[in-house]
Amino acid sequence: MSILFTPLTIGKYQLKNRIIMAPLTRGRATDGGAPNALMAEYYAQRATAGLIIAEATAVSKNGLGWMNAPGLFTDQQQQGWKKVADAVHDNDGRIFVQLWHMGSTVHPDFLNGEQPVSSSSVKQQGALKTPKGRDREFVVPRALSKYEISEIVSDFAQAAQRAIDAGLDGVEIHAANGFLIDQFTRDSVNQREDEYGGSVGNRLRFMTEVVAAVCKQIGSEKVGIRLSPTNSVWGIKDSNPKGTFTSAVEKLNEFNLAYIHVLEPKPVDQSLYLTTELRKIYQGNLLINGGYTKESANDALVNNEGDAVTFGGHFIANPDLVNRFRLGAALAVPDSDTFYTDSEKGYTDYLPMEV
Ligand SMILES: Cc1cc2nc3c(=O)[nH]c(=O)nc-3n(C[C@H](O)[C@H](O)[C@H](O)COP(=O)(O)O)c2cc1C
Repeated sequence: MSILFTPLTIGKYQLKNRIIMAPLTRGRATDGGAPNALMAEYYAQRATAGLIIAEATAVSKNGLGWMNAPGLFTDQQQQGWKKVADAVHDNDGRIFVQLWHMGSTVHPDFLNGEQPVSSSSVKQQGALKTPKGRDREFVVPRALSKYEISEIVSDFAQAAQRAIDAGLDGVEIHAANGFLIDQFTRDSVNQREDEYGGSVGNRLRFMTEVVAAVCKQIGSEKVGIRLSPTNSVWGIKDSNPKGTFTSAVEKLNEFNLAYIHVLEPKPVDQSLYLTTELRKIYQGNLLINGGYTKESANDALVNNEGDAVTFGGHFIANPDLVNRFRLGAALAVPDSDTFYTDSEKGYTDYLPMEV
């Protein structure tokens, strides 16, 4: 039997397999950011995953800049997540939710025209859809004050509490992909001169404070974190990814987290692949992600490159991915035109294979 189908203990949970659903923004929540019945059905369909890591979910109104992405800062949103948690548990699944603040990538259209926030006044490259139109370009953000930073840290902790109160099994802190935490970590954006900028330790201070606050609130065994050390979403970069992210993992070792989740497709030049370095340093469970097939995932686990593999695109199109892997069946291909649309088409209408 492939190692993919063997159980794995993360934190307080025993996962039934090592085939994990990666967080996937799909923009199907209500206008108020509450998960609805359609989302509950979508996640329930995928409950055979060893763990579902549900999509990026905003910790505050100011951190939310994606049309119909969910939040976890109102009672209504919490009630919506309860429906999702119940549906997944009724199908014998486990579900964490990814906690998110988009920082400078929140367009002013979401903020009554006000400037978004970041570590520094450094604009990121890119554009997103807003209530006022498609492809609305990011603007120059303003740097957060230290008081505001402490407020956002507590927003993460409160959203984590709401996740647990909704019956979700845990949270993943979104520290990847050029969003707010990453905007502190990587030095192409962070130009601060106070204790949140400059040295690697200072740039990691915000991430560390968020992790500490969330762990204190709900217990470290229910907390994971996602990093993307080498990608450059929205143009973000670091001058020394190896130094920065090995330091990040050393710090994270202090928390006894459920896991670290690294998004890093394997480059052609394997010497540039940082996950190998992070694996050597990290003492807990490592989830690996980025372009895996059943075969490459199996090989990676056999080679001890990680403890479990997460799959994004495959889980969009194959609700029964675990079964298809087990049977060696063909996989359906996701339709990128429906990634962020608003109906069941391309969402809950990918059917399990007929057996
Ligand atoms: C439609 C879509 C939405 C995504 N949303 C998120 C997200 O909310 N949070 C996140 O960390 N990554 C997100 N990602 C990245 C995926 O989690 C994953 O890293 C990526 O798809 C690569 O994995 P794969 O090769 O198995 O698809 C998204 C990717 C896609 C295609």
